[in-house]
Amino acid sequence: MSLAGQCYYRTCRTRPGRGVARATVATLRRLGMFRAFKLPLDALALPHSAARSLMTLWSRIHWMGGDGMMPPEQMLALYRLAASWPGDGDIVELGAWTGLTTCYLAAAAKARGSGHVYAVDTFAGTMEGSQNYAAVARYGGSTWATFRKRVRTAGLADRITALVGDTAEQASAYPGRPIRLLFIDADHSYGGVRRDYHAWLPHVAPGGLIAFHDYAMPEAGVRRFVDELVERQESCEATPGRVHENIFAVARRLSDVSLPPHDAETREEAHEAILC
Ligand SMILES: C[S@@+](CC[C@H](N)C(=O)[O-])C[C@H]1O[C@@H](n2cnc3c(N)ncnc32)[C@H](O)[C@@H]1O
Repeated sequence: MSLAGQCYYRTCRTRPGRGVARATVATLRRLGMFRAFKLPLDALALPHSAARSLMTLWSRIHWMGGDGMMPPEQMLALYRLAASWPGDGDIVELGAWTGLTTCYLAAAAKARGSGHVYAVDTFAGTMEGSQNYAAVARYGGSTWATFRKRVRTAGLADRITALVGDTAEQASAYPGRPIRLLFIDADHSYGGVRRDYHAWLPHVAPGGLIAFHDYAMPEAGVRRFVDELVERQESCEATPGRVHENIFAVARRLSDVSLPPHDAETREEAHEAILC
């Protein structure tokens, strides 16, 4: 990380510093500069606590995509969603890979001052539909060491718990609170997304969000599943919808209380939430 980058992130972490940075960026943009250089500048539009948490993350692990799978502007859209969607509860990410998106989600939870992130993955390059996840060979067959290193470097180890195993199978052993945001980015086949959605839906708090990545990926089954879900409108509604070309988010209906039968406390809370 360059010295200039460190200074920029430090400056933006303070309220007055962010004000100066915003005014400078607005002027430069009016002059036609910085149009293509989007991400660190667009983050200035976030509320102060969300911007500060993001700047801290970036100063530790840098803002570039690195070996994460999501382009920076999509990560910013996901971060914005995680930082701003109302309610209390935890965040679950299905498909963590090397932990870059996981760190963004945890930084958003930190900005809100509540919420833990559970990252579910085999970390071993699982099959996707009928295709093997070949990229994992670059990590010697497991992304676990890179994931752990990144989480520690980001200073977010106390906010992140990894659940190692198959995404759908891990749902039955979920140890967290009702979910405020479920981010689905694991097996992108139609059957894989459907399986993950139905396995985890009972843990999502009424009013909680379910966000699907790779909605725009033509060869994936994500779009077909989400479009069917939105058409049926049974357990969720299409709000906030397409938050980025490639990310579609739905909210679990307040009236949908098909919670796990073992979790009486959660069920009671859900009923209370509906009555409020
Ligand atoms: C697209 S990557 C996730 C990328 C990550 N969210 C990011 O943006 O950096 C998909 C991940 O899901 C995992 N995965 C796919 N199917 C899975 C399954 N059935 N159970 C557990 N993990 C799975 C793969 O191991 C891989 O790490």
